[in-house]
Parts: sequence; C-alpha cells; structure tokens
Amino acid sequence: MTEWLKTAVFYEIYPQSFKDSNGDGIGDLGGIIEKLDYIRELGCNAIWMNPCYDSPFKDAGYDVRDYKKVAKRYGTIDDLRELFKQVHERGMHILMDLVPGHTSEEHPWFALSGKKEENEYSGRYIWTDCWYKRAEGFPYIAGERERNGAYILNYFKCQPALNYGFLNPKENWQKPIDHPDCMATRDAMIDIMCYWMEMGCDGFRVDMADSLVKNDDEVKSGTCAIWSDMIHRVQEKYPEIALVSEWNNPASAIGMAGFQMDFFLDWFGNGYNLLMRDYDDTGRDDSFFKKESKRSIQDFLKEYMPKYEAVKDKGLYCLITGNHDMVRAAYNLDERELKLAYAFLFTMPGAPFIYYGDEIGMRYLNLPGKEGGYTRTGSRTPMQWDTSRNYGFSEADAQTLYLPTDKGGKAPTVEEQQKRADSIYHTVRELLLVRKEQEAFARHDNLKILFAEEGKRAFAYKRDDLIMLCNPSDREEIIPVEIENTDVIYCIGSVKTEEGGCALEPQSFAICRK
Ligand code: NOJ
Repeated sequence: MTEWLKTAVFYEIYPQSFKDSNGDGIGDLGGIIEKLDYIRELGCNAIWMNPCYDSPFKDAGYDVRDYKKVAKRYGTIDDLRELFKQVHERGMHILMDLVPGHTSEEHPWFALSGKKEENEYSGRYIWTDCWYKRAEGFPYIAGERERNGAYILNYFKCQPALNYGFLNPKENWQKPIDHPDCMATRDAMIDIMCYWMEMGCDGFRVDMADSLVKNDDEVKSGTCAIWSDMIHRVQEKYPEIALVSEWNNPASAIGMAGFQMDFFLDWFGNGYNLLMRDYDDTGRDDSFFKKESKRSIQDFLKEYMPKYEAVKDKGLYCLITGNHDMVRAAYNLDERELKLAYAFLFTMPGAPFIYYGDEIGMRYLNLPGKEGGYTRTGSRTPMQWDTSRNYGFSEADAQTLYLPTDKGGKAPTVEEQQKRADSIYHTVRELLLVRKEQEAFARHDNLKILFAEEGKRAFAYKRDDLIMLCNPSDREEIIPVEIENTDVIYCIGSVKTEEGGCALEPQSFAICRK
C-alpha cells in the first residue's frame, strides 16, 4: 500500500463552500490555499476535494463537461498547480474527484456520440439500436439527439452513462467489456488520471466506482476486472497513486478491483447509518451515539467486522464523519455525542475522513435544492470561520453567496471553538494528535473486539497495545475488561478499575495503553 496512506487523515473540501478568496460569493482554489495551515493544524495531512472541473453544474460538478479544465468559478489551472505545490510543501497530499461512470450531457464526446454519422465517439456511451426500443432495467432517454437510439443514464438526466460494456451482452447494442469501444473508454479515463497525476495530484476519490459495467454480477466481477486493468496501467507510470472508491464493498473494491481504500457509506439502515443517523420524521431516533438510545454496537459490528476482516491486510476500509451527500452528523447529535462518535471513528482502522465543518459541529440547514443537491444541499453551506461578514467565508453581499449561511443563532465558528478548550474542535485535534503519536494506529490489521454484547451500550476494542473503551449511554456501565496495568492516555469523561473489570461513567471514552 502507498506508504503515506497508513497514517493519512483526510479532510473533505466541497470547494463551493470552503473559502472565497475573490469576493464573488463562491469558494475557490485560492481560498483553499489560504486555509491549508488550518487543515494541517487540525491534524489532517490529506485532502479530498470534490470535482473542480468545467461543468454546467446540474449535479454540483459531478456532471463533467471537460475533465481537463478547471471550472472558471474555482480559478485557473495555475491556481490548481499552486494548490498541489502548497499542499506538498506542507507534507500533505491531495486527491481529486474522478467521475468515470458518466459525463455531463454537455460533454463534447456526448455531442458527437449523438450524431447520425458514425464517428470515434459513437460507442463512447450506451445507445440502443432504435429510439423506440427500451433499455430494459435502465433509466434511459430518447427524443433528444439525431441518432436513431435511446441512451442510458448513470444518475441524473444530465449524466449519460459512459460505455464500459455489459458483463453478459444480450442485445446486439450491448457490447462485451473488451469491445474496442469499451476499451477506448478505459483508455480515455486512464489518460485523464495521468493528466492530473502529471500535474501533481496524488490520486483520486472515485465516484460511483462500482457502476462501470452494466448487468454486472453480485460481486461486480466485470467492473473489478476493468479497474484492475486501469489501475495497473496507471500504476506503471505513477506507482504511488492513491485511490479511494465510492463502493461500500471492500471485498470487491480492495480485494478484487485494486483500490487501496473503500468507504463505509450511509446506505439506509446499514451499520454505518445506525451510528449517527438512525432517525426518521416521526421523531424516533435510535442512533447508537444518542445517549438515550438502546442500541448495542453489535448492530454496527455485525456488518463492519466481516467486511473489515476480508481486506484488513490489503487496504483501508474508511470511516467518515459525513460527506456532501448526507445529512450532517450535528443534525441530531449534540456536542458530547459528536465527540464520542468522533473518538470512535478516529480510533478505528482505516483512514478517517472529516467532512469540512464537522470538526466544529456545523449544522444541517433546511434549504431548497441547489445544483441537483436536493436534501443534500443543507450539508453544503458556507464554512463558518469567524463572526465577521458571512462567517468569514466571503466578502460578497449575502444575496450573492453560493448558499445562504446559518442564521439559526449561536452557529459554531472556528474562531469561537479554538478559544473554548472543551469544544468539538479541540476534541478532534487532540484525538488526531494521539492518533499520530501511537504506532498502533498506523497498523490497520490489528482490531480486536474485547467486549460488545447485545443489551449493553458500553463496548471495548483493542489495537496492539491500546485499549479503547466507550460508553455512549446516559448511565454508568461496568464491563469485564481489565485496565489495571494501563495508562489512560486520552479520556472524555472518566473510567476506573472496578471489581470484575472497569466502570465507565455516562458518555465516556478512553484510550488506555499497556
Ligand atoms: C456520488 C456523489 O458523491 C454525488 O454527489 C453525485 O451526485 C453522484 N455520485 C453522481 O455522480
């Protein structure tokens, strides 16, 4: 595995909303450069930046019009080069966002693909052979281009699917994955990755990485074969490239496709979701880190452990505080609950990912959708730096901001939290410092569960010489874990030795070293 990944802690930046350096109301590359020291001082040594490419922004930039061009609103290619340089000068790394499954409907490839006359791009997308033939099982569009066919979508209407082929083609318009048209799509994606690697980026977060091959099987063996080929070919030139997949199936993504990292994502009702976001609009909230929840950590471990075990010596199965697609963790968790959740996330194996603003508990805002964000928009609002105009995000008039700021009163800011010793910000910083100092956290195959039982809220786990104890509940709990000959090197609340094990105060977390 790429060496720096073993100790990597990522900070996800949604460039629209992080920092505006030229006063036009939208975040930009210059703004990110201004804040690199902030990110480093927080304890993050790597960045994942959401798409910054030329785009009509019908899906916030996940609808790419030109893979090799920086969107004007973020700056120029020289600004991006400068960002790479400044990141590296600080000993940090940066991943761009690669969108391999689809382009914008405004991409020139797609314009050519829709032409009646055969050309180089006719097979770059997936077209049926006649406009009134349905593409069974796929969302498709007809009635927009001169070519006699309908085309398949990968996500929104503005995102036609690129053609990587079908695992078992059943119609003559469905191509096998090694068809020259599908191979040409692979080559084009490799060319794009190499272009940015050459410019100085360190790798990619890969959007919908599992979506390439259509009618793929359960383990996605077609898609895995394609990634394995593409990754090997890029690694020949850039052996250090770092890749994290949006897949949520590490056995396929890491085990078969060759990614070094995969995310545990918030699929409805799954293990990750149960930690911080298990609520509905009836007021029910059974998220594990809510103090009054009845849930046991088993509900998470049942799903996490087998997936972790399958890849623990091959790559990193990564836990995130949130991302630009989900409701912010602070929506339902209070400060103390967030601190405990983060303490857990940052002491587990894998590289942690912190979504900008989560380190100060930025709130979710109920906003109308913007650029295809829908309910995700409320998690994409301007970063709150201080109490100056627009929270220090931008000098622009409030009406010209990309998204409105938090008007809810007592909105958290970096400035306020840096001053307050017991803030979420300081908890994050301290935890990341411990993570950096303890060698056990740089190994990722060493997780052992010491205690986790149905009906119990507190639990304990181990990483080499470190024992982590957590009690998210509002009551003291005693668990049968010996901590007698250990030093408590980090603590939220307190733990003490008790007959038969140790007692954990309500809402506590501790890291003990043997
Ligand atoms: C996943 C991205 O995270 C999301 O924001 C986007 O809308 C879809 N993929 C489509 O690219």
